[in-house]
Amino acid sequence: MVDLDKIVSLCKRRGFIFQSSEIYGGLGSAWDYGPLGVEYKNNVKRLWWRDNVHLRDDMVGLDAAITMHPKVWEASGHLASFSDPFMGCLDCGRHYRGDQLAEALADSKWWLSLKERKDKGSWADIQKWTQNERDGKKLAPNLALVKHPEEIIFLMQGVTPQVSDAVEETPKVSVIGPVGTTTVSPSSLSDEMFLRMVANHSSPCPSCGGRLSEPKPASLMLEIVLGPVKETGTLTYLRPETAQGIFVNFDNVLQSSRKKLPFGIAQIGKAFRNEITPGNFTFRTREFEQMEIEFFVRPGTDEEWHQKWIDARFQWYQTYGIRKENIRLREQEPDELAFYAKRCVDVEYLFPMGWSELEGIANRTDYDLKQHSRLSGRTLEYFDEETKQKIDPYVIEPSAGADRSALAFLVDAYQEEQVRGEKRVVLRFHPELAPTKIAVLPLLKKNSKIVETATRICHGLRKHWIAMYDDTASIGRLYRRQDEVGTPFCVTVDVQTVGDENKPPDGEVTIRDRDSMEQIRVPIDRLEAVMMDLMAGRWAKVYSESRKQPVAGASA
Ligand code: GAP
Repeated sequence: MVDLDKIVSLCKRRGFIFQSSEIYGGLGSAWDYGPLGVEYKNNVKRLWWRDNVHLRDDMVGLDAAITMHPKVWEASGHLASFSDPFMGCLDCGRHYRGDQLAEALADSKWWLSLKERKDKGSWADIQKWTQNERDGKKLAPNLALVKHPEEIIFLMQGVTPQVSDAVEETPKVSVIGPVGTTTVSPSSLSDEMFLRMVANHSSPCPSCGGRLSEPKPASLMLEIVLGPVKETGTLTYLRPETAQGIFVNFDNVLQSSRKKLPFGIAQIGKAFRNEITPGNFTFRTREFEQMEIEFFVRPGTDEEWHQKWIDARFQWYQTYGIRKENIRLREQEPDELAFYAKRCVDVEYLFPMGWSELEGIANRTDYDLKQHSRLSGRTLEYFDEETKQKIDPYVIEPSAGADRSALAFLVDAYQEEQVRGEKRVVLRFHPELAPTKIAVLPLLKKNSKIVETATRICHGLRKHWIAMYDDTASIGRLYRRQDEVGTPFCVTVDVQTVGDENKPPDGEVTIRDRDSMEQIRVPIDRLEAVMMDLMAGRWAKVYSESRKQPVAGASA
């Protein structure tokens, strides 16, 4: 699996994603999509919209406002309970999510380094670790063990593994005391117990080893005041999910589109959450885009529809290139479920930092529509013409992140390979996802006939696809550049195409396939028709029927 730093670096270098407000030192965990990035992310969203709205009879779209009436968030339950447990380091001031602390600690630099000594070393080694400028003093300067090595080690030495259960209840290490003359080795203490003791029984900060506060809930809602004067303005929130815009428009859509159950409403848009631990590039940010569907069904058919959506959404990612071994479904445990959910299955992707959520597919029951009916006083029931009865529809919600999907497709497409002794970086994007579909490259930029022909071809192709012209390097280098941004096909115009004093023009161009690096010669007047085939994924067929171009050295 590729390292996330490589992805971040490629994204900046090639204009996919930049750090927000970089010239001012950057705004943490906020990202801007550059010239290639905006095309790429738009492709992700366009494909999602096409497949979920345009290609289905039972779906319509919506684009609701980001700011909504504050009552919406009362009805949805966000004001009361959309929070994460939060812990702050009393020494370095960093913040952690209480429910992610164990994970953060397991990955923390100081713990990984100390654990190595614990597992292999003696107490003397551990003491050395605390005093070494490159170990304890640098990695965990605020850890109790580093600040008071003698006392803590003395107490730890006397703790036998057998008394560990009793110790768990004990708030301070100082009351435990050594047990007689028994001296235990560091490795005989469990990791859990060892960690608790090196931090003198508080929770240690994964960053500096300092003391963390007790967990308390922190709201994820971002407040805004609408109106020119803060004191008299309307306090509301930037939406933390796009879903509520759909629920409050249920009746508007129903009346105007005359849809019958089962049907769904799709929306793509920005959402905002005051995340405690944003990070891992665009994976978790405070501002992000969601692609959400609220699919309304008759109660009693909800479980069947839920399963249909789980299957469809799991397949969707694979259709556009995610490899089978990198994607999985995970059933949420009962204690993870949102309070309104009957069942929720996450689509997870194997990101560079491990398996993480890409999309959640929840059965939200009739909770939201009923809540909005109750608080607004406007009924959001559905009148069933067949049974002449009013019903409260159930809702199946496939909720995906546009930024997370874009990151997953990019990570999955990234490959490094050796070609004739040189490293080739290639993004093997599905052609529909690639930001540029075709690059038109003149072999000699000083030959005006070649340049004119290449420019004309490029403009012609642009009527159907995003095509770019590049003559700023040698052909080998131009191919590598296009590989690195995932352009599926390059079209090269050379002397043979336009002819010279010795030979008449043959009117053909070379098409090079990004993945196989194979090349074929095609007449210019057939180029569009051939490209139609190629974009549909038919390189092998076209290649077998075409005149091959031998691949030479750097032009591979
Ligand atoms: N309406 C349901 C809902 O919002 P969620 O699981 O909280 O459910 C859905 O969010 C999806 O939105 C996630 O699977 C993820 O892809 C994306 N998402 C959520 N929080 C995010 C964040 N802070 N940064 C980037 N994407 C996020």
